[in-house]
Amino acid sequence: MSPDRSPTTVRGSFGAGAKASPFACTACQAATLRWAGRCPSCGAWNTLERQAHPTRHSGKVGSILGPPAVALRDIRTDAAPLQPTGVSELDRVLGGGVVAGSVTLLFGPPGIGKSTLLFQVLAAVAARGEEVLLASAEESLAQVRGRATRLGDVPDRLLALEGPEVDAIEMSMQVHRPALAAVDSLQSISDPELSQPAGSLAQVRACVERLTRLAKSKGIPILVVGHVTKDGDLAGPRAVEHLVDTVLSFDGDRHHALRVLTSVKHRFGATGEVGIFEMRDDGLRAVPDPGPLMLADRMPGVPGSVVVPVLQGRRPLLVEVQALLGPGGSGGSGTPRPQALGLDAARANLLLAVLSCRTAMGGVLGKPPPEFFVAAVGGINVTEPASDLAVALAMASVAGGRPLPADLVAFGELGLAGEIRPVPYGEERLREAAKHGFRRAIVPRSNAPRRPIDGLELVAVARLDEALAAAR
Ligand code: TYD
Ligand code: MG
Repeated sequence: MSPDRSPTTVRGSFGAGAKASPFACTACQAATLRWAGRCPSCGAWNTLERQAHPTRHSGKVGSILGPPAVALRDIRTDAAPLQPTGVSELDRVLGGGVVAGSVTLLFGPPGIGKSTLLFQVLAAVAARGEEVLLASAEESLAQVRGRATRLGDVPDRLLALEGPEVDAIEMSMQVHRPALAAVDSLQSISDPELSQPAGSLAQVRACVERLTRLAKSKGIPILVVGHVTKDGDLAGPRAVEHLVDTVLSFDGDRHHALRVLTSVKHRFGATGEVGIFEMRDDGLRAVPDPGPLMLADRMPGVPGSVVVPVLQGRRPLLVEVQALLGPGGSGGSGTPRPQALGLDAARANLLLAVLSCRTAMGGVLGKPPPEFFVAAVGGINVTEPASDLAVALAMASVAGGRPLPADLVAFGELGLAGEIRPVPYGEERLREAAKHGFRRAIVPRSNAPRRPIDGLELVAVARLDEALAAAR
């Protein structure tokens, strides 16, 4: 073996191969020889601390360039400790509460109630005697105080900071070390080092990165509000989803009181869990049982209305589906498609085609079929195929001018051949319907439960025409 290929010669350039690294980063655990304000490995600020037992470099290249890989088996799997916020529907969505050092992005359209939710969460934690911090870059503290007054008592451990500079926000969090911090909003804070304006992609990214490092290094859970517009301009919050631990969507119809909180991404638990709130004069109220709120304004005896138990997260929710015939005519643009609100228009169009081609409704509907409007009531977006049968029944009901029984629920996915397919959680849906006084249910054959459900007459169907006959 030639001497210049010997491992000793290669290692030689790194010194003796056993140098102590007295500092380590509390964020990424990388060891370094010298103290610095910023970790050379992960870039976090003020995270280098002197180690009690300095890492001795073995001389292997890995330990010099960064943290060495470890045996995965040796990693402890203790679940991250959860801190309940006290806002029950938020805790439900988070699987129990916030995790220390985590960053949660709360996004939704303007005016939906994000600032209100943020405030209520901070107030709930502060009311337990813990210090919390609100960084308000969007509203003045006088405005924040005004909202706070409307919402009730203002706890004295709730600190607030006004202004857009992320440096000041960071500093304040470092000084106060709050149990929970909130930033309102992502689009209005900025890093003065960057030339781009607040709200630009570069700013939004840089600010989220800084907040994430701060959260991790200080163990402070941070909630960050982000706006998205109704027509799905996702450039802001969506562009930083990968940088944060948890992404929550807060949505609803601004003209209805119902608000739905959904987890889109959650590093510490399941996603898809849903929290439901009602926006009232005195703020957001958790709605553990949304049934009565969802069905409060139903008008019985009107053709084109039926209730479908949809699934929000793992929770069944009763949603009224309505259909209405349009003023008619295709307006010269070919066959009119259904217009949809809270439902998928393309899917409604497909259901209309199935109704026309696979059932006796074809004769009633004519060719081309008339223009329909379909809607899910209450500001809920119903995207589940389980709503197919209800939408088809509502269209058939309004086209035939015959109301469906008020105590009827229906669910099932429809195939192009007119077959009705099973959906998940059939029994949970049925129990929810029975609980709220529904007496009849049209369900896919394979969703019919083995044991009867109290007070509910079940009609199991395999095809759409059977469902139409059963729905009279
Ligand atoms: P806000 O939390 O400011 O929304 P966002 O931060 O998402 O833009 O609140 C939006 C609306 O909610 C506001 O127009 C008024 C209404 N609102 C209530 O109905 N009740 C209340 O108690 C509060 C604080 C707001
Ligand atoms: Mg706001």
